[in-house]
Amino acid sequence: MIPQWFIEEKRDGREHAEADLRAWVRGVAEGTLPDYQVAAWLMAVYLRGMTEAETAILTDAMMRSGECLAFDLPRPTADKHSTGGIGDKISIPLAPLCATLGLAVPMISGRGLGITGGTLDKLESIPGFDVRLGIPEFKRLVAEVGCCMIGQTDTLAPADRRLYALRDVTGTVPSIPLITASIMSKKLAEGAQTLVFDVKFGRGAFMKTQADARRLAESLIATGQRLGRTCRALITDMNQPLGRAIGNALEVRESLDVLSGQGPDDVRGLTVTLAAHMACAAGRFAALGDAEAAARAALADGSALATFRAMCAAQKGRLGDGLPQAAATVDVPAPRSGFVADIDAEALGRAALALGAGRTSLEATLDLAAGLDRLRQHGERVE
Ligand code: URA
Repeated sequence: MIPQWFIEEKRDGREHAEADLRAWVRGVAEGTLPDYQVAAWLMAVYLRGMTEAETAILTDAMMRSGECLAFDLPRPTADKHSTGGIGDKISIPLAPLCATLGLAVPMISGRGLGITGGTLDKLESIPGFDVRLGIPEFKRLVAEVGCCMIGQTDTLAPADRRLYALRDVTGTVPSIPLITASIMSKKLAEGAQTLVFDVKFGRGAFMKTQADARRLAESLIATGQRLGRTCRALITDMNQPLGRAIGNALEVRESLDVLSGQGPDDVRGLTVTLAAHMACAAGRFAALGDAEAAARAALADGSALATFRAMCAAQKGRLGDGLPQAAATVDVPAPRSGFVADIDAEALGRAALALGAGRTSLEATLDLAAGLDRLRQHGERVE
């Protein structure tokens, strides 16, 4: 394959042959293709798009650019991926809840990106919690505890690391086939047979409109199905933050409330809904209503919390030492009484980032205690 002919093919809107696309991804992962040619191709894909078949081949080739995990367990494996939003802490209660319902959940999560928080940063606000386990330890804990939550390793989907870094600086991030291949290559490499996607839309989300979120959801499902996995997607509103807390330790606190059967209705509700879809798609329950009832019971009776505590202890987290506390707190009262008519999730995400809950540079150290708490939600009365 001659690189410039391959780029021209996509520039002119033609479909790549499978062998060429696979060779291209090998060149990306092995570093034999220079940045300028990869970047030119990314822009051609951004402008011309890809067919469903091309997207699936790209995803498969990116997945196979590194290690692919496989589990041989008596329980079905399942995972969730959220496209990210403000106050989205759902993974923290969801993984142990699903493990309690009889699933095995190998969850590889990310750090904060822009104004959206990351599960790894949140978990690290628990003193000692180790998200850098090696793959053998990760697999052992998935088998023994039922769930384990770690960060991306260097060996999983290395082609995505290079493509993502180039997309970030070439204006080619918002492309449905490129986003699909990026998300799916990592999730497929992680080895879960069932994947449920929480595709968010709105002010605090990557996809601003419901129509774009639907297009991404359809692309994720089509790609997952072509590659032999069971997939479902929920399209959920991210115009206001999830729950009442934004910030790493504050969101762990809220997650613990949800694991105790309490916490904000929206966080508990979405956790239960996603758990039920994962459990049904993985074959643990036939009816969504039965799975939801089991999920609610596991939150109410403390069994999901016990699984979280077991995962936390296995990952060296010391919940008993307490979570970081902010040195100072400031009340932000409403200027007048009334009902909350509108909420700008993105502005709240920016405020939390400015307080230290998110990164302003790659090397920035987070203030794990910083953030916003006791947020009011749409339609609520304020005095
Ligand atoms: N998350 C990813 O992992 N990749 C994308 O392209 C977008 C979101």
